[in-house]
Amino acid sequence: MTSAVYLIFGATGDLARRKLFPAFYSMYRERKLGDRFAVIGLARRPRTNEQFRDDLYESIQEFARYNVTKDEQWDSFVEHFHYLPLDINNVDGFKKLRELTDELDGKFEIGGNKLFYLALSPELFGNVSHNLKAGGMLEGTGWNRLVIEKPFGYDLPSAEKLNAEIRQVFDEQDIYRIDHYLGKEMVQNINVVRFANTFFEPLWNNKYIANIQITLSETVGVEERGGYYDRSGALRDMGQNHMLQMLAVMAMEPPSRMHPEDIRDEKVKVFRSLRGFQTAAEVRANTVRGQYVSGTLKGKPVPGYREEDSVNPESTTETYFAARVFVDNFRWAGVPFYIRTGKRLPAKTTEVVVEFKNVPNNVYLSRKHKLEPNLLVFRINPMEGIYFKINAKQPGTEGTIIPVAMDFCQSCQVGLNTPEAYERLLYDAARGDSTYFTRWDEVALAWKYVDKIASAWGERTEDLHLYAAGTWGPERGQQLVAEDGFRWWPVQ
Ligand code: BG6
Repeated sequence: MTSAVYLIFGATGDLARRKLFPAFYSMYRERKLGDRFAVIGLARRPRTNEQFRDDLYESIQEFARYNVTKDEQWDSFVEHFHYLPLDINNVDGFKKLRELTDELDGKFEIGGNKLFYLALSPELFGNVSHNLKAGGMLEGTGWNRLVIEKPFGYDLPSAEKLNAEIRQVFDEQDIYRIDHYLGKEMVQNINVVRFANTFFEPLWNNKYIANIQITLSETVGVEERGGYYDRSGALRDMGQNHMLQMLAVMAMEPPSRMHPEDIRDEKVKVFRSLRGFQTAAEVRANTVRGQYVSGTLKGKPVPGYREEDSVNPESTTETYFAARVFVDNFRWAGVPFYIRTGKRLPAKTTEVVVEFKNVPNNVYLSRKHKLEPNLLVFRINPMEGIYFKINAKQPGTEGTIIPVAMDFCQSCQVGLNTPEAYERLLYDAARGDSTYFTRWDEVALAWKYVDKIASAWGERTEDLHLYAAGTWGPERGQQLVAEDGFRWWPVQ
C-alpha cells in the first residue's frame, strides 16, 4: 500500500531534484502511487507552493523517464505537492507541519501513513528525528517510516552514535537506510541469476572460481561536492557501502526464503566472514589508494583533485582505492575478491566479473593452445546485462580455439524503460519492503572492516599514489592483482 504523506526534508537540494521528484512522477505514471498520497517539500528557504511546483516541473522535465507537459494529467499530479519552509532545529515548525500533514491526509484520504525522507546531511538526522517526535508527528494511526541517505556515519563510533539517536525515536524495522546500488536492476538480478538457474550455483565456490572482481569506475571528478568528499574519500564514499554490498550479494548463501530478514541475515554472515586486517602492514599489502592529478579525459584536459573547489590544496584524500578481500568461510576460502573504484577513470562503468578456474587438463595443449578462463560478467551500470565468455572453435580453422561471448544485453532491448534505483527504493519503502535497504548490523560490520583500513592509512601517507586523470588508476592497483597471477579484466 503506497498511500502515504511523503515528507521530503531537503526538498530544494540536488537529490530531490535529480532523483526523488522524477521518481514520484514515474511512479505516478505507472499507477504505483495511486491518488491517495501527498508530498510535502521541506527546506529552510521560503518558497510558495507555486514556486515549488514550478521547480518540480523543471526537475521532471530534465531528469524523468517520461515526457511531461502541463496538461490535465500534470494538474492532477501536482495538486498533491505542497511546500513548507521549516527550520529543523525549531520544534514549533514541526507543529505547523503536523497541521498541514493532517489536512492533506484528510483531503487525500490517506489514513495516517507517513514516510519521512531525509535528503539531508547525516549530522541532522538525530535532531530531525527528535523534533518529529516532540512535534507530535509520530502520533495517530498509520505507519511512520524513516528513509535516510548515506553516508551513515564517518566511522563505526560515529555511525553508532547516529544510530542510537535515531533509534530513540524509530524502531529498526521502520528505518530504511538507502544504498542506491541495491536499487539497481542488475544488482537485484545477481540473486535471481544465482538462485533461479541450475548452471551457476554448483560452480559458485572455491573449487571452480579463481577470483571475483568488482569495478566501479567513474569519469566524473568531485564536482561541487569537494567539501564532503575531501573528508570522506573513495573508501568511505563507495567502499563501505556500494562495493561491500555488491560483494555480499555475490558471496552470500541462498536464503531459505526470499524474505527481507532472511536475505539480510545471509549478507550479515558474509560481513562477519570478511577477513579483517590485523596490522597496518597487512592493510598496505592488500589495499591501494590513489589520488588523481590533472590529465586528459575524453580528449579534454581536466584539473587535478587538489585543484578542485573546496578541496584542501594539500589533501591526501584518496579518489581511488583497490583492495584484495577474503571471505573466510567454506565456500570462499582462498578466493580473492578484488574491488576497485575511482574518480576520473577512463569510463563510467560498474561490472562484476567472475573468473573461473582453468579446466583440469588442457587437452588442447599439444596444439599450443593456452585456454582463456571462462568469465561471467554482470554489467550493472550504465549498460545492463550478463556476459559469458567461453572457449570455442574458430569457424573455418583447423581447430583454433578462441574466446567467444554469449551476451545478454538487457539495456539493448527496444522500448525497455527500466525504473531508476530511487524509484524502486521509494516504492519499496512505501510498501514496507526492506530487502534492498541496509540493516544496522550490516552497516556496523562494514564500518568495522573499513575502519581498519582507514586507520592504517591515517598513520602515514607515502603510499598515496598519484594517477593522471583519464588512466585506470595507479600502477600499484594493477600489481595488486598481478601478484596473485591474475589481471583486471578490461571493462566492456
Ligand atoms: C554515490 C557517491 O553514493 O554514488 C558518489 O557518493 C558517486 O560519489 C555515486 O558518484 C555513483 O552512483 P551512480 O549510480 O551514478 O553509479
